[in-house]
Amino acid sequence: MYPIRIAPSIIAADFSYLRADLARAEQGGADMLHVDIMDGHFVPNITFGPDIVKAMRKHTKLPFDVHLMISKPRKFVTAFFEAGANCITFHVECEDQIRTTIDEITYYDCKVGLALKPETPLSAVKGQLRAIDRLLIMTVKPGFGGQKFMPDMMAKVREAVEIRKQGGFKFDIEVDGGLNKYTIWDAARAGAEIIVAGTSVFKEVDLAKAIQDLRDNARESLAYLNPPPVDPDIPPVDPANPSGEPDI
Ligand code: DX5
Ligand code: ZN
Repeated sequence: MYPIRIAPSIIAADFSYLRADLARAEQGGADMLHVDIMDGHFVPNITFGPDIVKAMRKHTKLPFDVHLMISKPRKFVTAFFEAGANCITFHVECEDQIRTTIDEITYYDCKVGLALKPETPLSAVKGQLRAIDRLLIMTVKPGFGGQKFMPDMMAKVREAVEIRKQGGFKFDIEVDGGLNKYTIWDAARAGAEIIVAGTSVFKEVDLAKAIQDLRDNARESLAYLNPPPVDPDIPPVDPANPSGEPDI
């Protein structure tokens, strides 16, 4: 069982206090920072480029999980790697050649991931699964934070878990969009390991508690899924007399 990791999405932070929010995330127990890059073409929104990533790199040791929602990721690989990316994930629906772009990223000492829009089936990444470290399954339409979680994407997560097992692949399964302390229950049960959370972390005053709540609920849902083995020495509870007290 892969550990659950929490990746706060920096686009939900207060950019006028970016350095402070980076410190809040690191001190609050984040496992990595999710960095959404949007080009206004692949998605109908624009965020920022490598220079902002480089500026953030100076202020945190958190690994950068860079999510490229751009049409032509290949020509920006070097810039994002040099800016401090630890994993570069791009969309299988982009305009560039997939394997060439994967090779471009792995040329550097950088993890590589492939992302899928909600409407894109897993079959679109078949043939690439042995070459990637991360499979990102979008649980909202890419382009904006604060959207509603799509529970029907959990079937794709379960399918990915099965394919990984059958194929002996090593990729992590990441979900992105609308994750909070309630929806994480479904995501963890389906088999997601990296949980991106923007609004449900950076919009909270007590960021550390927000991250802990996510982790606790994920752990609880997994415990619920895999209850501890019954101790044969403990007699079963009699529903008619749950306290087991003698009826005098
Ligand atoms: C959406 C981005 C997500 C988003 C998550 O296109 O890829 O990472 O910022 O934000 P929340 O958690 O608010 O949905
Ligand atoms: Zn993202």
